[in-house]
Amino acid sequence: MSANASYLAPGEGETIFSVNSAPIKFGAGALGEVGADAQSLGMTRVALFVDPHVLAGAPGEMALRSLRAAGLDVAVFDQSRCEPNSDSFEAATAFAREGAFDGFVSLGGGSVMDTAKAANLLSTYPDDLMAYINAPIGKAKPIPGRLKPHIACPTTCGTGSETTGITIVDLKSVGLKTGIASPLLKPSLAIVDPTTTESLPGGVVAACGFDVLTHAVESYTARPYTSRPRPAHPSQRPPYQGSTPYNDIGSIAAIRLGGTYLARAVRDAGDKEARHQLMFASTLAGLAFGSAGVHVPHAMSYSIATLKHAFTAKGYEERDPMVPHGIAVVINAPAAFRFTAAANPGRHLEAAAALGVDVAGARPGDAGEILAGAFIALMRETGLPSGIAALGYAEADVPALAEGAFAQQRPLVMAPRSVSKLDLESLYRDALRYW
Ligand SMILES: NC(=O)c1ccc[n+]([C@@H]2O[C@H](COP(=O)([O-])OP(=O)(O)OC[C@H]3O[C@@H](n4cnc5c(N)ncnc54)[C@H](O)[C@@H]3O)[C@@H](O)[C@H]2O)c1
Ligand SMILES: [Fe+2]
Repeated sequence: MSANASYLAPGEGETIFSVNSAPIKFGAGALGEVGADAQSLGMTRVALFVDPHVLAGAPGEMALRSLRAAGLDVAVFDQSRCEPNSDSFEAATAFAREGAFDGFVSLGGGSVMDTAKAANLLSTYPDDLMAYINAPIGKAKPIPGRLKPHIACPTTCGTGSETTGITIVDLKSVGLKTGIASPLLKPSLAIVDPTTTESLPGGVVAACGFDVLTHAVESYTARPYTSRPRPAHPSQRPPYQGSTPYNDIGSIAAIRLGGTYLARAVRDAGDKEARHQLMFASTLAGLAFGSAGVHVPHAMSYSIATLKHAFTAKGYEERDPMVPHGIAVVINAPAAFRFTAAANPGRHLEAAAALGVDVAGARPGDAGEILAGAFIALMRETGLPSGIAALGYAEADVPALAEGAFAQQRPLVMAPRSVSKLDLESLYRDALRYW
């Protein structure tokens, strides 16, 4: 992989990276072991946060049976909002406070897992949500200590939230989507059972699958960890290190799996191989981005998701109009990679090759267009909107979109080149319509 050799050469910058792997159990039937795992983590009274679509199906039954067979006292919360906001976090926190639980199990997509993380935090160390929210939007108060044990069981092949120390929320008071980030938010264990994806509508697989692909490509093309100065003390090393040779392994494998299986998994709910492999890609990409970080497409996604709610995606028809996270991200990807490729064209070409594009003979100057083209082809094949205009945005919205994205400095600083507000305006213009 290009540039890796130079990553390992000591220079003036950072020379050290760390691997803070999360404990993961992966495989068909793994959910049937959740009771035994909860017991061994010391849980006796469990708050089960579960997606309403999953509760009535096979995964919900399997988890409840397993928890009860282990003799645990279980209370169910099935009111998590799809793409949570501050009100829904509050309702979940009230449930967690009143229940006096000694452990949490979440079974659902990123929305449910993130809600359980927030409820665990705000019931264990009560404070205003804004106290913990990332600066400069919130006060970024450090989490005072360990949280209660939490087993996260994803049922979408998307966010990777089961291994990350992040929870994302739409803050109604400021009209922005942002989050809380701390290693203390990482679940104690991830149980990833790929059979849970079999009931997902194709449109949800498309949104989630593109979240996976962008996590992986953004981690792979993020600025290298060697580009940071070495900190004076190990405690000052940031949680997002930038791309490292270790994260690269998971990112590139996830890109290959996404390139091979995403369209198949969207097209055919009965294609178990495709859905199970996409779930594995999601876990690999989650591990990679949770350590390396994401950059421009994610930074741009938050204002897309919050400024207008005028779009209904396939698979989300029973929800109020909104742009699902994976679509809010990938809709920026072609424009963003055209822009970032100049900083490390080799890596952009490797990502395109992992997606299945023949890059033999490609010149460095073509890298951005080639990777953008690979995304556009896959977006068209899976029925995604043709750009942000199809989500309800127009040229007149560009300054407000760029303003919101520029506030997301946490991901923006991980980009391989610096990004100004004017750059963001041009990127949103490029993203208006791709075909
Ligand atoms: N914490 C993180 O690290 C992280 C990373 C990326 C995204 N996110 C956040 O995660 C959220 C999105 O999560 P998501 O993409 O996993 O989707 P989701 O949890 O919002 O679920 C999407 C839809 O699928 C349904 N669903 C879920 N599992 C199902 C199943 N097995 N069968 C049938 N229907 C099912 C849900 O009810 C919902 O309608 C956003 O809020 C996003 O910001 C968090
Ligand atoms: Fe994401």
